[in-house]
Amino acid sequence: MWLPSGCTCKCVVTFVSRRVFKARIHVGVRRRCNVAAFMPEAAGFDGVSDYAALQDFSVTSSESFWAAVARQRLSWIRPFNAVQDCDLSRGKIKWFEGGKLNVSVNCLDRHVHTYPERVALIWEKDEPGSEVKVTYRQLLEMTCRLGNMLRRRGVKKGDCVTIYMPPCPLAVASMLACARIGAAHNVVFAGFSAEALAERIRDAQSSTVITVNQGVRGGKLIELKKTVDSAVQSCPTVKQVFVAMRTENPANLTARDVLMEEEMMKEDVVCEPAVMDSEDVLFMLYTSGSTGKPKGLVHTQAGYLLYAALTHRYVFSYHDGDVFGCVADIGWITGHSYSVYGPLANGGTTVLFESTPIYPDPGRYWETVQRLKINQFYGAPTAIRLLLKYGDEWVQKYDRSSLKTLGSVGEPINTEAWEWYHRVVGDGRCPVVDTWWQTETGGICITPRPSEPDAEIVPGMAMRPFFGIKPVLMDTEGKVLTSNDTSGALCIAQPWPGMARTIHNNHQRFIDTYCQPHPGYFFTGDGAYRSKEGYYQITGRLDDVINVSGHRIGTAEIEDVVNQCSEVAESAVIGYPHDIKGEGVYAFVVLKKAVDVKGADLSKQLNNMVTTKIAKYACPDHIQLVQRLPKTRSGKIMRRVLRKVVERDLNGLGDLSTLDDPAAVQEIIQGHREICGKQQPR
Ligand code: PRX
Repeated sequence: MWLPSGCTCKCVVTFVSRRVFKARIHVGVRRRCNVAAFMPEAAGFDGVSDYAALQDFSVTSSESFWAAVARQRLSWIRPFNAVQDCDLSRGKIKWFEGGKLNVSVNCLDRHVHTYPERVALIWEKDEPGSEVKVTYRQLLEMTCRLGNMLRRRGVKKGDCVTIYMPPCPLAVASMLACARIGAAHNVVFAGFSAEALAERIRDAQSSTVITVNQGVRGGKLIELKKTVDSAVQSCPTVKQVFVAMRTENPANLTARDVLMEEEMMKEDVVCEPAVMDSEDVLFMLYTSGSTGKPKGLVHTQAGYLLYAALTHRYVFSYHDGDVFGCVADIGWITGHSYSVYGPLANGGTTVLFESTPIYPDPGRYWETVQRLKINQFYGAPTAIRLLLKYGDEWVQKYDRSSLKTLGSVGEPINTEAWEWYHRVVGDGRCPVVDTWWQTETGGICITPRPSEPDAEIVPGMAMRPFFGIKPVLMDTEGKVLTSNDTSGALCIAQPWPGMARTIHNNHQRFIDTYCQPHPGYFFTGDGAYRSKEGYYQITGRLDDVINVSGHRIGTAEIEDVVNQCSEVAESAVIGYPHDIKGEGVYAFVVLKKAVDVKGADLSKQLNNMVTTKIAKYACPDHIQLVQRLPKTRSGKIMRRVLRKVVERDLNGLGDLSTLDDPAAVQEIIQGHREICGKQQPR
């Protein structure tokens, strides 16, 4: 893959001798600190002398708070003239109107002026022990070449470019090149199938796609260009596909394909940045909802960037010179906010992790921490649960003394995994921040930090709202619950700059999903418990969205695919607790009459269909054939009943009197016992 001259690449693993660490527990100690030293932007806030006052000010004087932070943390071409203009009940969200800026200038040019040779990206390639370092000067050069290339090839301000690439410097430069010329990007996770990619390209109406010839993951080649070829067959809008060369193997080029590296080399290294309004679209990112159709959540320029930057700085306690290691893929919001935009807006050094936690062995993360001297490590509980099963020695053989903060994201982290992460990975001396947020929120909203640097952290709890965030819990009648030690639907009571503005091409769906359920509040779709002390713990989704290995997927999306199988009459898909994945996929399937198919054949067929139409991670772990599904008299499937059967909580089945045919439940319980006797979930 092309990199600017002078990029440092390294292909040797170096082993540093293990050191012994003194454990220090950060629990329950509180000390007073100078707020202005902690957050320079807070220097002018009246009467704010401690962290509690700062948190309070950020919520009660939200406009003053965000105005000060936005002025100081971002570089503006023209200052904004209004801090916010929002009406949550109507889905109207606008921040920093009148302001003009360019996101790529904020992420690159201003840092190139002060420290051109600082490393911006460390690309941790799949090949073990290899890394590539890209400085701010080099990343700006790549971005400008790509920006010029896109402009010359007809991409205009307001267009949307689809990026289907694994984490690599050219993927980041492609995102920033879009931002430079005012195009929106639509990054699609490179594990999605051709059909899932095509659906997202069509919905985004992209005429340009950027990809690589092949991906490399866990030592295996992945035919990404072939997937794009098959996707674009059903995407009449696509006029050109830029192909970067990740491997040496030739790509099979068609008339619409352009070799990206050859093309960008013809371009100038200076690219005039587009002048963007704060509320112009920066990107859209598709995520699953409770219907079969994924939604393209739209994020805009200034508010998103500011929120990503501020949360990156304060949640992880990121300081100048630190190496930030977020191991999420750039195809998810975590990769957008904490591998790319947050760290780069802060002039940081950020790691792009291309591999898997167990390639070539379960020491991969920690060997990378040692070699790259990572200071903040941010990953998903599913990987932590997997790694803890391999034992402590894979961690302990590497030097992790560089680590300062450990982060967890995407799903609940169970106490065993939290404690192992804290005790073994962090040697008991690094705070673990369990960060709760969503594609919709743009950045972290509930997290143990920031707060007084030594404030209490309770294992497995997201705990406290970030600056400017006011969480509330609602009861089933839609009333705000004011007491502690209570559970309800998690909403956010006032807008914040990082929140999504709409769903691409479907503002009504945005209003219906997030604004209507509790008018005047942003509804997250999650449930939460607020402890006696007032700390938040996320209890899970309230809708039909499940979370498999930290990846969000709507059960309706999987059902849509299963129902397309010619033998299937109908199906119901639910999530169930899974040791490693957090949630597994369990499909109840009713076959058409007179169909004679073996369970194993059907399972193979359905898995192939789900892999081809969505992605591998969405495949059912279990398929149970049933005669009928439990339905109400009005024909609605009672998934609650199915969940209780699979969780083996028969006492929790509740009132079955509304079922059309209660005998269906007994059959399902019996069938489930037979399956679970024979087969364990994957
Ligand atoms: O259910 C919550 C869960 O992941 C959902 C958001 O998924 P997505 O938009 O893909 O973004 C994932 C990365 C931010 C949430 O609605 N979730 C996220 N973080 C946590 C969590 N559940 C429990 N604890 C968390 N820390």
